[in-house]
Amino acid sequence: MGWERAMSGKYRVVVVGMGKRGLHHAQAFQANGRFQVVGVCDIDPARLDTAAAKFGAEKGTDALELALKLKPDVFCFCTLPALRAEMVSAGVKSGAKLIAFEKPVALNTKEGFAVRKLMADSGVKAVVSHQHRYGEHYRKVKEIIASNALGRVHTVNGTATGWMMHMLSHLIDYMRWYNRESPAQWVMGQAEGSGKFKDVHPSPDYMGGFVQFENGVRGIVECGAGAPDVPEVDYWWRKCRIGAQGAEGFAEVLTGGGWRAVTKNGVASGPGCMNYDLDMPPYVQEMADWLDDDRKVHSCNFASAYAGFEIMMALCRSAVKGGQIALPLTEACDELASLKQHLENRKALLSSPVNAKEYGQ
Ligand SMILES: NC(=O)c1ccc[n+]([C@@H]2O[C@H](COP(=O)([O-])OP(=O)(O)OC[C@H]3O[C@@H](n4cnc5c(N)ncnc54)[C@H](O)[C@@H]3O)[C@@H](O)[C@H]2O)c1
Repeated sequence: MGWERAMSGKYRVVVVGMGKRGLHHAQAFQANGRFQVVGVCDIDPARLDTAAAKFGAEKGTDALELALKLKPDVFCFCTLPALRAEMVSAGVKSGAKLIAFEKPVALNTKEGFAVRKLMADSGVKAVVSHQHRYGEHYRKVKEIIASNALGRVHTVNGTATGWMMHMLSHLIDYMRWYNRESPAQWVMGQAEGSGKFKDVHPSPDYMGGFVQFENGVRGIVECGAGAPDVPEVDYWWRKCRIGAQGAEGFAEVLTGGGWRAVTKNGVASGPGCMNYDLDMPPYVQEMADWLDDDRKVHSCNFASAYAGFEIMMALCRSAVKGGQIALPLTEACDELASLKQHLENRKALLSSPVNAKEYGQ
């Protein structure tokens, strides 16, 4: 396989899960001159046949079998959240140099710890798709914060109307990025509403909480039924507001509505809207850069995503037990099962009629 790569100069990729995100990934790999999609996998035969024809790749319904056969450089999987450790294990066994997968890192720390151990034991590079950060509006807010135009940053915050297993992973990731990836020391959270535990992204209907970061900055997050509307944005899934407040101003990104800032230099705003076609190419390019050069660590590296995952799991624990939860977490448990039991048959109050369709009473 090393010979084939030497001949083509391309990193060979297997993509598992040919749904929405698997197709996005395969397209982005194929469009980047440094990668070749050599294999695609899905348990749905119709999806598999269409994708194999589209990418001119070998196909299979068993991810491990296909990966062992093709020995890719990159093992990418975009299956739904219930499948993580099994897929990471397949990627490790195949000898891939990099595993690329979708958020969330896992549904609970039982699986999250297993995933982290597989990564640590194998030394494989890994990235998790928090690719919104490549949006021009997300980057502009980062640039303003990093320029010190806000003065001393004391708070980073994020809200989304979408529910936890879809959105909280994103919110925490960008909040941590805006706060220079300072480690979290403890969290305190609350949750309400059990309707979305039935979803394939099982979640409380509403989740919110505080994060204490080591650098003294306060993190505030909320997502779901009780999270505020972002009336500047029409498309419901993009009603997210993420930003930072400092002693001399604030800057924020609206996922579907550009960026804005009020700083000591004045009032400013600009465009930008989350767009897979624009966000995937730089996300994939950074994988080639990291594979080429160990020093060019990917912005969406596993260690960073894992730190965000722990914050989310600690918020769930706090919502069940009450009080503050110290990080890092040391004992694994099934946070989601405990939270589901805790919230059984409870309903969340809505922040706005825009949330009625998804969380309606
Ligand atoms: N980063 C983002 O912006 C973003 C956006 C949407 C979804 N996601 C995440 O992407 C992941 C996938 O979401 P999606 O919307 O593409 O889902 P999807 O349902 O469209 O696709 C999942 C695919 O995986 C296949 N699959 C399931 N089990 C499999 C197995 N054992 N082996 C091979 N294939 C299998 C399914 O048949 C399906 O085709 C989720 O974790 C979701 O949270 C991320």
